Amino acid sequence: MYSPFSNLPTPKPDPLFAIGTEARLAGPDAINGTLGIFMDEDGQSLVFPSVVQILAHLEKHLQGFNYSYPLLTGLPKFRDAVTKLICQDDREVIASIASTGGTGALAINLRLMKMLLGEENNNILLPVPAWGNHAPVCTWAGFNILEAPYIENGTASVDGVIETVKKQTKPFGILLQVGCHNPTGLDYTSSQWQSLLDALQHKECVVLLDFAYQGFKGEPEQDAEPIRLCRERGLTTLVTWSASKNHSIYGLRTGLAAAFVKDMSEQKTVEGTYSMITRGLHSAAPTFGQAIVALVQERCPEVWRSDLRDARAVLKRKRQMMLENLPSEFQNSLSGFGMFAMLPLTEHQVNRLKLEHKTYILLDGRINIAGIPETRIGELCEKIAAVL
Ligand SMILES: Cc1ncc(COP(=O)(O)O)c(C=O)c1O
Repeated sequence: MYSPFSNLPTPKPDPLFAIGTEARLAGPDAINGTLGIFMDEDGQSLVFPSVVQILAHLEKHLQGFNYSYPLLTGLPKFRDAVTKLICQDDREVIASIASTGGTGALAINLRLMKMLLGEENNNILLPVPAWGNHAPVCTWAGFNILEAPYIENGTASVDGVIETVKKQTKPFGILLQVGCHNPTGLDYTSSQWQSLLDALQHKECVVLLDFAYQGFKGEPEQDAEPIRLCRERGLTTLVTWSASKNHSIYGLRTGLAAAFVKDMSEQKTVEGTYSMITRGLHSAAPTFGQAIVALVQERCPEVWRSDLRDARAVLKRKRQMMLENLPSEFQNSLSGFGMFAMLPLTEHQVNRLKLEHKTYILLDGRINIAGIPETRIGELCEKIAAVL
């Protein structure tokens, strides 16, 4: 009997989801710093008051909601609202498509990038450490990954990336995170961005900016600075945006893929290409989260901005408490922004945290600070100190 399933290689479980499940099953007294979800003090996924405000009105809205197939590019009001968050310059023309979260936006933009570079040019430069799923999404899109060091001497560095850029002799892509770097929390300064863009400007390259944490470092417009810098240089710029964190709607799988283009004719071509790509992947993205984001941005943008301010304040307090309660060698790793930090712990120490202290973080030391209640940060620090 023909049995092709036996040809499948043994699947490797995603290490992040595997350890996240282990942590959840360990019970409420475990400390879970694994999956990148912002938790409230009760250990539930945070819900933004702006989103609650919109949900309260949604029943009425849903009666008039269009339940037929949406446009392949998604809800126009959602795309307009998000492109305004990404870029405030009215002179820019942006092609966009709604996606299934930031990951879907990456999958779409990587396929567009492939078409822009030409089939024979399949190199993408990825500064590492990167978000754990960056390499898989690039590989599934057919790219060959060129790694370059993102961290040198404990801080974010552009030197190794620039060196790798300079070596490129044919068109290539580069995948960079806009801010609140996952996994390190350490971002490039404006002047580091400028140096890197100087190098990129002389190359045939497409820059893909992953913007999964807009509003988690500073005000949303400030956080978009690297996008502005790329555009000032006239670089071919693609952006992937996620609502998972900054509207706290992880399960609604809401995101946007965008491309800065020359004019409306190019916009039409790119949006048509985006439509073809998404049709070949899974057709249109779900619209419920898009409707929520569009309504939040239309009806209560100030409440949303205040939700983000509160989220930033919580993260800052937690980082500060960790800085005060951990030895000085942790200082660098905790000096960043956003939900993550990469603690200077060995795999052995991380395993001891798990086995002896029911404290779960990733093997490379990445911790999701946003996942741990403020009331338990002291306890977390004691547990870390016990394995040093
Ligand atoms: C850097 C980065 N990019 C993209 C994503 C994917 O976002 P989403 O959950 O919306 O697919 C994440 C999520 O953790 C991330 O950290």
